[in-house]
Amino acid sequence: MKIVMLGAPGAGKGTQAQMIADQYKIPHISTGDIFRENVKNGTALGMEAKKYMDQGALVPDELTVRILLDRVARDDCKNGYVLDGFPRTIPQAEVLDKALREIGDKIDYAINVDVPDENIIRRMSGRRACLTCGATFHIEHIPPKQEGICDKCGKELVQREDDKAETVKNRLEVYHKQTQPLIDFYTGQNVLQTVDGTVDMKDVFAAINEILA
Ligand code: AP5
Ligand code: MG
Repeated sequence: MKIVMLGAPGAGKGTQAQMIADQYKIPHISTGDIFRENVKNGTALGMEAKKYMDQGALVPDELTVRILLDRVARDDCKNGYVLDGFPRTIPQAEVLDKALREIGDKIDYAINVDVPDENIIRRMSGRRACLTCGATFHIEHIPPKQEGICDKCGKELVQREDDKAETVKNRLEVYHKQTQPLIDFYTGQNVLQTVDGTVDMKDVFAAINEILA
């Protein structure tokens, strides 16, 4: 099963992708997490990506596509995967589409987690992220068991650099301009499904499960 998660920054793509990955035993692949891990480890890729991420801009397609295609070629992706934060532009979607077609494959579901812009800024300011395992929490809605510590791996939780209000505004603009057109792209492939992302995360997941079941 190959799934693409669509939605604005902070819509809950990562939260839902992780739940899907756990339930269906497929890897959760987030290009944002891959970039953040590289930033944290100070790699050349991380240095390059950081220039764009800190502005709320997109990392260039060429670089992002190379990383993603490498990742999905690994053994653990044989039974599928859930992509979170990729594709984010039409050219990225087209490259993925072509790579899949070449192996006689396709995306089975594109799940659009729909949350209006007004809700997004509030969510982002309360988000805390684990830069080690990629888990995400919210200080009000989804608090970790122990403040500042990741439930999953026990490492420190931090506020992401790009979660400052000004950067979030840029990310939303970039989303509407460059990523929202993917809704039409996947509608055209008859795989788009939209769920209401404003309800409790468990209810969002129940709606997704109904689609996937
Ligand atoms: P990325 O990491 O993908 O960030 P994003 O798309 O902006 O999305 P977020 O991770 O911020 O939000 P999310 O939808 O995953 O929400 P979450 O589940 O955390 O990308 C970061 C940057 O990397 C980009 O800006 C770009 O520079 C670069 N990049 C990445 N991929 C790229 C690509 N393909 N091409 C080019 N550049 C790329 O939830 C948000 C918060 O809300 C959390 O605190 C969560 O706990 C809470 N929450 C979740 N669900 C609910 C709910 N139902 N109710 C209440 N709270 C909830
Ligand atoms: Mg995310």
